[in-house]
Order: sequence, then structure tokens, then C-alpha cells
Amino acid sequence: MSVKEKNITKENNELPVISFDDNHPTTKSLIEEVLSGLNKKQKTIPPKFFYDSKGSKLFDQITQLPEYYPTRTEIGIIKTYRNEMAQCIGKSPVLIELGSGSSLKVQLLLEGLQPVIYIPIDISRDHLLESSRSLARYFPDISVHAVCDDYSSSLSLPDLPQGHPKVAFFPGSSIGNFEPEEALALLQRVADILGPGGGMLIGVDLQKDAKILNAAYNDDQNVTSEFNLNLLTRINSETEADFDITKFYHHAYYNEKMERIEMHLVSSEAQEVNVNGESFQFQAGESIHTENSCKYTLQSFRKMAALAGFETVKVWTDSKSYFSIHYIELPKV
Ligand code: AVI
Repeated sequence: MSVKEKNITKENNELPVISFDDNHPTTKSLIEEVLSGLNKKQKTIPPKFFYDSKGSKLFDQITQLPEYYPTRTEIGIIKTYRNEMAQCIGKSPVLIELGSGSSLKVQLLLEGLQPVIYIPIDISRDHLLESSRSLARYFPDISVHAVCDDYSSSLSLPDLPQGHPKVAFFPGSSIGNFEPEEALALLQRVADILGPGGGMLIGVDLQKDAKILNAAYNDDQNVTSEFNLNLLTRINSETEADFDITKFYHHAYYNEKMERIEMHLVSSEAQEVNVNGESFQFQAGESIHTENSCKYTLQSFRKMAALAGFETVKVWTDSKSYFSIHYIELPKV
């Protein structure tokens, strides 16, 4: 469904017009994916389901935590190098943002880029609409077309204006939430959409001392724990499920061998949980694997990008080499 919207704000009696495509995943697909994950030997629930309205707000809080270095480090890199980034991208691009969330980072780039259209894509509908409207208010000259979609499985975009560079912006190291084969498949799908000459500005979190990584996913204020547990609250409210939230706890650790942070929800006792008529047994200590956050080296990411057909044009990092932003491009023909 595609709609042009116009509403009234309190501030200036006029909301900017944005276009909106709503391909929000249905409750049926949530139930199917949750049931299929819980039927696996290692029970899993995909991390994309973290982001209901509450989960999106909790994630925004995570990005402000002292231990969670990725967001502020990436913002620092963008602020320092945005002119170079704009030069790589070129004038008046079609700018597509995957997992746009609060659209905060892109705002740092918009002035320098002056995109002909900005297309934020996110799975969290309310959050997407709120941030797209507020962005359109600050940048009235930029046409905004928001798309609510699960970009992890498909990408359906509006018709894109011809004759402008096509660039995907994928910040936050969300690529790390995909296992390497899925990450490669996602890069290939994006490459298909961009076509020859298309570019991608992508944030990639780097391998580092496990202590720093473990702290980032085990914050003192327990916001990450709340974010993780909210997944079960969400499933309880959107399906016929009876998870007892008090009988699960957050567990996150750096798996050195797999080069990733793993987040789990661990059952504190033996229990049975029912989801839409199916019952699942948990032993004490058994977990649901809720997220991977893969950490790359500059070389390992460059290699994956090359497998998807991208050439690395430029890479920027912070002074401690905690985080990296890559501008990668598809050959022109
Ligand atoms: C969205 N994504 C890149 C975050 C990450 O670091 O993997 C999600 C997150 N999970 C726990 N804290 C943050």
C-alpha cells in the first residue's frame, strides 16, 4: 500500500508530505517465524522482532549508554569525514537507508548530499513514520519516501528516479546482525537494486578486546537486558503465548571463535511455554538465541563486499579502530 499523507502538527499546523509504503510483516509471519525458531534444537527467535515501538525506544536508549561505543564512535567518524563521504557519493543521489530507525545519522550527511529522494526503510512502522516526518520537517527540500519493510528477506522499493547515483546507507553495523552467508546475500540483493555504478556507505563494527565488547552488551543499567526480554513481552502481546518474563534472564557474551557477540534469553528453571497452541519445554539453563552481532576486521569485510561484487573505494575509522565506515561501489558496467 502506498499513500501520500498530510496531517496537522502542533508546531506549525502543517506536517510535511511524505510518501509511505507499508509492507509491515504480518502477525502471521511473526507467529510462523517464532514457532519455527522455537522448534530448532538451539531455540532461536530472529533479532528483527526486537523492534516493536517499545523495542525501538529501548534500542535508542542503548545507543546512549556509556558502554555502548558503536553509535557515538560511528557518529564521530561521520562528523569528521562527511565531506569526503559526500565526495565519494556524488551530487544529488537517490539515497536509500536500510534500518533507518531514528534517521539521526543520515541527518549529518543530508546537507552535503542534497539527495533527489531519501528512502528510509525500517521494520518498525510507528518509529519510521515519526522519524521520517520529523526529518522531512527539517529538510523541506528533500523528497522523503518511507518504506516499512523487513529488508532482511526482501526489498521492494518505489520506482527510483533515473539519471542519479544510487546509494545505500546502512549504518550502525546492522550488517553484523546477519550471519556471514546471510550478510553476503543481503549485500548481493542491495547490489541488484543499485545496479552498475551504485554505491553503499556501510558501518561495520570491528573486532577488539573482548572486555570492551562484553561490556557493550551487558550495561550497568540493564537496558540491554530489558531490550532482550522485551522480545518475549512482544510475543506474548501479539500472539497467544504465555512466556513468564520473570523466569528468563539476559545473557550476552563474545564468542571468540565465531567472532560475534551472542545474546540469549536463558530459562532460569525447567518450564513449559505455550505459543499459539504449541508447547515448548525448557530445561533450567536452556536458552533462546536471540541475536548475533558479528564483528569484522577491515580485511574480512572488504573480502565479503568483494564477493558481493563491490569494490572498496574508501574506509574511515576512529583513532582506536573500534568502528569502520566503508564506501563500496559496483563497477560501472
Ligand atoms: C542494531 N544492532 C547493530 C545492534 C548491535 O549492536 O548488534 C543491536 C543491539 N543488540 C544489543 N545491543 C544493541
